[in-house]
Order: sequence, then C-alpha cells, then structure tokens
Amino acid sequence: MTMVYEDRGDDAAVEVPMRRIRFTINGEKKIAEVEPRLLLSHLIRRGVGLTGTHMGCDTTNCGACTVLVDGKAVKSCTMLAVQVDGRSVETVEGLATASELHPLQEGFKQEHGLQCGFCTPGMMMAAKALLDRNPDPTEEDVRWALSGNLCRCTGYQNIVKSVLWAAAKLRPGTADPDAAE
Ligand code: FES
Ligand code: FES
Repeated sequence: MTMVYEDRGDDAAVEVPMRRIRFTINGEKKIAEVEPRLLLSHLIRRGVGLTGTHMGCDTTNCGACTVLVDGKAVKSCTMLAVQVDGRSVETVEGLATASELHPLQEGFKQEHGLQCGFCTPGMMMAAKALLDRNPDPTEEDVRWALSGNLCRCTGYQNIVKSVLWAAAKLRPGTADPDAAE
C-alpha cells in the first residue's frame, strides 16, 4: 500500500506504528508486521498474495471477502489483520488438495453454481462454515447461512443446489450425490 503522511518536520510524525502478528493461513504458519488499521482482506490479498478472496464492496455488504477465522465465517473487510494474531485463517485456496477439488468446488461445477464467479469464493467459504457445523443442512439452512453473501448473476437457486450437492458428497456413505437429490 502507498501511504502519504503530513511532513511536520519531525520523525515522530512519519513513524508508522507496526504490530507483529503470528497466524496460520491454510495450515501455513506466518509472521507479519502490520499497521494496526490494516484490514484482514488486505493482509490476505496483498500481504500473503492469496487473491482468491475477492473484494466487492469493502463495506460488509457483499460477502465476497468471506474467509474462516478459527472455523467461523467472517467478512475479512470487516476485521482488522491484528485480530487474527494467534488464530487460524482459511481461504478458498485452502479448499482443494494438490490432486482433488473440495466437494464444494465439485458441487458448484456439477450444479452450475456460478456465472462470473466473483461471489464464488465467499459463497464457498460461508458454505464450508455451515457444512463443518451441520453436515446435513436443509435448503432453508443453506439459504440462511448464505444470506450475507450477494450474487448478482445466478439468482441463488444453483448456489443452494451446489451446497446441498456438496453436503451429500461429504456425508459418509453417499457415493453419488446426484442420486441423493
Ligand atoms: S468486500 Fe467484504 S463484504 Fe463486500
Ligand atoms: S456468479 Fe457473478 S456475482 Fe455470483
């Protein structure tokens, strides 16, 4: 980030206070030096370089920036980077393994849960928080869990189907989520 400060002729005026934080992101341990006012979304995108977390509104409305902090879905434009000190962050990049998509990613593919894809990372992370705590959600549960995430393309129907597809795939004993519908 480029910062511009008033030059008042003394060093104190141009000193930027920094805080050292330790956190885990997608299983990797990190240390960062951050300004106390830095947003978590900016730490993730500009600091760590994980640009899968999108920025739609910067004002807590759209949910595109949703990540998990200690397993809870949060809008990362609404949280300060210093607040993840000692905590664990998960982003959309942490869903797939080197060889396999996460069932949520498969579900969005199978059920055509995206068009432009801008909202998709946030939708998937909000959905992951839901499925981690409720492996067998109803359609209403899914709609409620995603109610803080906006999509301007899909009309939501296929997003809900995608999450239900993933829930079925994740449940033990469901070999074919299409048959479980
Ligand atoms: S960018 Fe965070 S809610 Fe829109
Ligand atoms: S797929 Fe375009 S905003 Fe959701």
